[in-house]
Amino acid sequence: MIGLGAAGGALVGRLLPILIANASGAARVTMGQDPFATLIRDHRELLDLLERMEHSVDASALRKATFAYLFKRKISKHAMAEENVVYPTLTDHAERAEATRKLYEEHARMKILLFELEQSISNHESWFKAVRGLSEEIEPHARQEEEVEFPALGARMDKAGKMKLARKIHGEQAVIV
Ligand SMILES: [Fe+2]
Ligand SMILES: [Fe+2]
Repeated sequence: MIGLGAAGGALVGRLLPILIANASGAARVTMGQDPFATLIRDHRELLDLLERMEHSVDASALRKATFAYLFKRKISKHAMAEENVVYPTLTDHAERAEATRKLYEEHARMKILLFELEQSISNHESWFKAVRGLSEEIEPHARQEEEVEFPALGARMDKAGKMKLARKIHGEQAVIV
């Protein structure tokens, strides 16, 4: 880092996790892992978190705020990878432009619900309405991705293409620490 100065050092510090994530994404595909495995795992974790939120009837405002933060962080990383890597690739490679537009629209609705969730920390009724809305929005969306869109894209890619995609997915997710 000699000669880069403080700003350069900070930039390297930010880029390093992305480079490491890129390499680990490619390594996983080399070992035979589906490039979409991370995103599918995210779906499970997001839905599990929402279920925990729905059952936290007596949660304090602090606990709700913590839930909202954890949920926002996870869904933001996930959406970055899908919106910036997977969906553009899907539009280009899998002739799924119309279906992809629908996925982007569904993400936009999720972001509105996430905003409502954050705004209703102190209002039980609105909080649970937002939690339920997110579950209802995410469940069919995740199913569509896992059962239709990801397989459609995977079927059109060779091993090198899958490695490149995995690298990009992991790199994009690493942008949010
Ligand atoms: Fe999605
Ligand atoms: Fe997804």
